[in-house]
Amino acid sequence: MAHNIKGVLISREEIAKVVDDLAARISQDYAGKELVVIGVLKGSFIFLADLVRKIDLPIIIDFMSVSSYYGGTKSSGVVKIIKDLDNDIEGKHVLIVEDIVDSGLTLQNLKEMLLTRNPASLRVCAAFDKPERRKTDITAEYTGMLIPDEFIIGYGLDYDGSYRSLPDVCILSVDGGNE
Ligand code: IMP
Ligand code: MG
Repeated sequence: MAHNIKGVLISREEIAKVVDDLAARISQDYAGKELVVIGVLKGSFIFLADLVRKIDLPIIIDFMSVSSYYGGTKSSGVVKIIKDLDNDIEGKHVLIVEDIVDSGLTLQNLKEMLLTRNPASLRVCAAFDKPERRKTDITAEYTGMLIPDEFIIGYGLDYDGSYRSLPDVCILSVDGGNE
């Protein structure tokens, strides 16, 4: 399938401002507490790195890898745990950091699973959100930017494993690959 980069949707400067705002809100909301930040691999790694350096709290960082995408531009709605957390989250204040909420199925499944481990609290921070595509009623407590129903790449987000290292968020058009 032919695909090409249509242009920048969100510049690195805009992203930096959004990250600052999110970090300020999180620092305020959890003041006096220790936070366990869970990065959902791989898409969140750049956002997480930027975010945690701006949060003014003691932080433990852990990662999970779940899979709901199998090389295409549509979520399958099936979540499989590929790498579990290294640490116990019971009694901890946990913040899941995601790259993007699309159908919401990944997050819904992940949240349900993590809640069975009895954290003190569990919230979600997503860099980007495509509300038009939602198939569940899940919303992240902290959302960086709402974006239109387009497939985006860069700032950690990939298409088939590529483009994660682009510093700006760009739109990818896939000829013949829509839906
Ligand atoms: P959901 O389960 O449909 O919400 O899908 C969430 C996951 O799909 C995200 O964590 C991304 O890995 C991937 N995803 C959804 N939309 C995009 C996109 O526009 N670009 C790249 N990855 C995406
Ligand atoms: Mg992801």
